[in-house]
Amino acid sequence: MSKDRSEVLMEYLLTRGFVWPSFEIYRSMVEVGGFYDYGPLGVEVKRNIVEKWRRIFVYPYQDIIFEIETPIIMPEIVFQASGHLEHFTDYIVECMKCGRKYRADHLVEEELKKRGINIRTEGLSERDIEKLIIEHEIKCPQCGGELSKVYKFNLLFRTTIGPYSNNVGYIRPETAQGMFVTFPRIFDLAGRKLPFGVAQIGRVGRNEISPRQGLIRLREFSQMEIELFFDPKDPRCPFLDDVRDVKIRLTTEDEVKKAVKEGRDPTPMELTPREIVDRKIVPNEWMAFYMALAMTFMNELGIPVDHQYFLAKLPEERAHYAACAFDQMVLSERFGWIEVSGLAYRTDYDLSRHEKFSGRELRAERRLDRPVEIEVVRVYPNPQKIREVFRDKAREVMKLIAGLREEDARRLARGEKIRIGEYEITPELVFLKVERKKITKEKFVPHVVEPSFGIDRIVYVTLEHAFTLVDSDKILLRLPPDIAPIKVAVLPLVRREPLTSIGASIARELARRGLKVLYDDDGSIGSRYSRCDELGVPIAVTVDDRTVEDGTVTLRDRDTRIQIRAKISDIYSIVRSVIEEKRDLVNVGRELGLEVIERT
Ligand code: GAP
Repeated sequence: MSKDRSEVLMEYLLTRGFVWPSFEIYRSMVEVGGFYDYGPLGVEVKRNIVEKWRRIFVYPYQDIIFEIETPIIMPEIVFQASGHLEHFTDYIVECMKCGRKYRADHLVEEELKKRGINIRTEGLSERDIEKLIIEHEIKCPQCGGELSKVYKFNLLFRTTIGPYSNNVGYIRPETAQGMFVTFPRIFDLAGRKLPFGVAQIGRVGRNEISPRQGLIRLREFSQMEIELFFDPKDPRCPFLDDVRDVKIRLTTEDEVKKAVKEGRDPTPMELTPREIVDRKIVPNEWMAFYMALAMTFMNELGIPVDHQYFLAKLPEERAHYAACAFDQMVLSERFGWIEVSGLAYRTDYDLSRHEKFSGRELRAERRLDRPVEIEVVRVYPNPQKIREVFRDKAREVMKLIAGLREEDARRLARGEKIRIGEYEITPELVFLKVERKKITKEKFVPHVVEPSFGIDRIVYVTLEHAFTLVDSDKILLRLPPDIAPIKVAVLPLVRREPLTSIGASIARELARRGLKVLYDDDGSIGSRYSRCDELGVPIAVTVDDRTVEDGTVTLRDRDTRIQIRAKISDIYSIVRSVIEEKRDLVNVGRELGLEVIERT
């Protein structure tokens, strides 16, 4: 039986060194699914995708978006505050006979699909899923055994920090928390002005119950995220006009609800960012703005508009922190519609929770229309009492009291006790002074819109869309030139001097100037062009006998196979304009008045 396109693609990605399963030599001994290595070509594609993301999401807005890097391991309190310890769970079910464990909602969906029943389990409770298992008599797909009750499984990877078993830490499941907990420092650096955003690109870990589908569901993967902080009283996005012409395909919450009821897929509609805001499909302009950028990003990776849309998440399907959320879906030939990014309106949820757990103020200020007089409670530590109660922790507690939030100060003034992390502070531990003060500004917790991209899924859909079979068996990887892992190939027409040394010196010079270059003088020129097409090299430079006479070479366009003839000294600038300025090679040649050779 001949292989289908996606099987050829999977084999190609493995054998050409894009990606492969990690720890392969131990795979027969241990169960370690959900981890993938990136090989030399995969690393380049991933790097180029990340760089494109920066060019679309970060560099044009550099006055207000700041990229940072924070640790992968974070202390337990961060995830108590963020709600991940409580809410970051999936449903699990166990076979009572063979002991295999399954992600319950996925198992139910798959088993029912085999019987021709399409059902959406997202948002169902564990009891609902259990009911479906009983009602449809779903058994272990491996051994036919009875299944256990459905229970929740927390996806955080746990570890300890340092040699103390009680100092628990977790691998972050999203880069976001690093940006929230460092808010005061980065907000100060940004001049304490809103709107402002923090970007982070990095690895995260999720202890997925049954990772499958290669790069689509991993236990360790990479994300690119932005936390955009804004004043909820001024949710305008100053850049909305820049993306006014972008057509966004999306399904609204109403349409999703209707589709669920009617047992069909939701139908997307096409709107501009302004229309999405005006129709109140999203609660602020930032959501529409990031939808437009995300569509543009995917488009520039070679994903056509009709292969993507934003799927509204119903309240019961949303993450615990989101008041409104959309998943950006991309159509994959192998896996169907998959979520490549999530766009969430996180409100003030995260900063408010971290305020509460850290006792530190995570606020911005806004100017009032007119000054108002308010009561302020000033809190000063009582050193003697604090030393008596907290002993060697006294200095730390005094520091926390000095930076107390107004809300906590007021509670102490009312005679209540407060808790900051592990410390309980009672009114006896402080001196209180109540003053009246005229203020012209008020403090508030900024709200957040978050676009969050999973890099590995994007690498996969980009490669899948670029992967083309010509004449049913010749591979052509039509990656956009700026994403291609190798930018230019240098090929002497035959392996003979001086063609080889001229070719080698051109390759060296291009590599020295920062381009990823392939030098190849092995085999017929036809087979080398085919090799370049397979690796997605956008431009192949050929050195021939005429090069020796007049210092010119041919530059072959991967997708049209048309060649132009240019001087060696112009190769670099021509290649750059194709890659950087997204120009068409043949058009560049025509514009420069170069010879164009239209043969295959
Ligand atoms: N900070 C928000 C957040 O993490 P998410 O929807 O859980 O949101 C964002 O994740 C993106 O990360 C997803 O849209 C998806 O592309 C990617 N992602 C999530 N889980 C993944 C997994 N197990 N393997 C690979 N990518 C994953």
